[in-house]
Amino acid sequence: MSSVAVLGLLAALLLSTLSYVWCLPSNKRRLPGPKPKILIGNLIDLPSGGHEWIQYAALARKYASDVLYFTVLGTPLLVINSFEAARELLDKRGAVYSDRPRLVMIKELMEWDWNVALMSYGKRFSAYRRAVQQEFQPTVIAQSYHQVIVREIAAFLGRVLETPDSLVDHLKHMTGAIIMMVAYGHQVKSVDDPFIAMNEAVREHAEEHPGVALVDVFPILKYLPTWFPGASFQRAAAIGRELSIRMRVEPYNMVKARTESGNAIPCMATKLLSQDPPLEEASNDEFVKNCCAVVYSAGADTTAAALRNFTLAMFVYPDVQRRAQEELDRVVGRDRLPTFQDQAKLPYVLKVMKESLRWRAMSPLGVPHATLEDDEFQGGYIPKGTTVLANIYPCTRNPDSFNPDRYLPTPEKPDGEPDPARAAFGFGRRICPGRFFAEDSLFLTIASMLHVFTISHPESLSGNDALEGITWSSGLVSHPSAFAVNFTPRFHSAPDVVRAAQTSRDA
Ligand code: HEM
Repeated sequence: MSSVAVLGLLAALLLSTLSYVWCLPSNKRRLPGPKPKILIGNLIDLPSGGHEWIQYAALARKYASDVLYFTVLGTPLLVINSFEAARELLDKRGAVYSDRPRLVMIKELMEWDWNVALMSYGKRFSAYRRAVQQEFQPTVIAQSYHQVIVREIAAFLGRVLETPDSLVDHLKHMTGAIIMMVAYGHQVKSVDDPFIAMNEAVREHAEEHPGVALVDVFPILKYLPTWFPGASFQRAAAIGRELSIRMRVEPYNMVKARTESGNAIPCMATKLLSQDPPLEEASNDEFVKNCCAVVYSAGADTTAAALRNFTLAMFVYPDVQRRAQEELDRVVGRDRLPTFQDQAKLPYVLKVMKESLRWRAMSPLGVPHATLEDDEFQGGYIPKGTTVLANIYPCTRNPDSFNPDRYLPTPEKPDGEPDPARAAFGFGRRICPGRFFAEDSLFLTIASMLHVFTISHPESLSGNDALEGITWSSGLVSHPSAFAVNFTPRFHSAPDVVRAAQTSRDA
């Protein structure tokens, strides 16, 4: 390392030590967690190496506390490990816990600060959040987007019938096609569509977890030049920066050109373009570009991960699959696909969808929150500017078994277990605004897959044997590793039902 970097590092250490001393006043009690060391605080105590959510949950058990407190070079970090603590802090005290941390790598170096999911709390955030939220309210979804979901599910089932071995591609195609139609009125025709490929590239170059890069710990490193030894993060940031521009500009320019030539399909972009900009500092072009790009970047991958977990669960728990199919036979019959109108009569299938959200968290550590003011919890002090991670994994993952009946009322729990959507989509004022849309897409895809296919392990394994060798990726979105699966038409006319749905929905 050069003398500049060493000096930078020493300055950062000195400052952070001072701020460490300063950030926990002597009369304040520290919340449970590993004891900080001089100079570095808890730097070496922080879980690393992937699947940090499991390690945080283990630490929470070790310290017998549902919150853990760390200081990393002076910056406080609170990790919430229970549903109750997340509800109390993030939901009920939303006025304090709704900021985002600085996130040097992704916001400053990759220049993703246009993205509402990363924006600091305030007027600009509220304007963007309102626009996205309004577009994904249940009434708007039902009126404008259900038909898109229905059409793409029929096409997806057709592709699974033709090439059942390519589930991952088919899910990528379907979830990408739904989002591109909703956001930009663009019809995706194949999994090689350039916008799907771009979204894939964005994901490949995105940070695993926003806020964990070395430059987030030592912001001074952001000034290192790209050519500098050890500054490979600058090259990664340059690629991320270019993709951040392309993913906002290219689909937006396409919809703008179609609008000007009178060929645009009504969508979120055309709707926002016809309205006045709600922010003085941003042109309408800029505002619409940013709103649509956040939906484009956030909407598809999480839904695909939930559907892969669902598919896996169906051959691990064949009894659950059979019960859901009995319900579908009773309610839907065998000459059509399920519809949104059937939902109220398919309570077990709905619970299978909820269980798919709970069984394996798709975004186990969510997006970090930050505090806007000093606070106290369980007698411990939480300073303003604390980064707050909601560990969704222990909030939903106990126990492990996939059991849709857990939501039924029991004498001990008259309301059944809490709806996992209350944790899987994050918390408080930053809760996922796409949650109703995601749940609708998941419900109908799950109902349709169960209706037309028997989903089985290639060697007819079930239970833990069928899970042998499956691992889940680390990162912002956690996917199961590749697995082989058989999709067999469940009844003789199932392929005809799918083809009929494709034809009527294409018409
Ligand atoms: C199964 C599917 C999905 C899951 C599991 C999921 C999960 C999450 C989580 C955990 C967060 C962080 C919440 C927090 O900070 O507490 C989030 C934020 C967000 N999600 Fe989703 N999401 C899904 C689908 C979608 C879809 C379909 C859209 C768009 C239509 C979307 C748009 C967003 C946006 C814009 C944010 C940032 C909100 C903010 O910072 O205020 N998500 N999501």
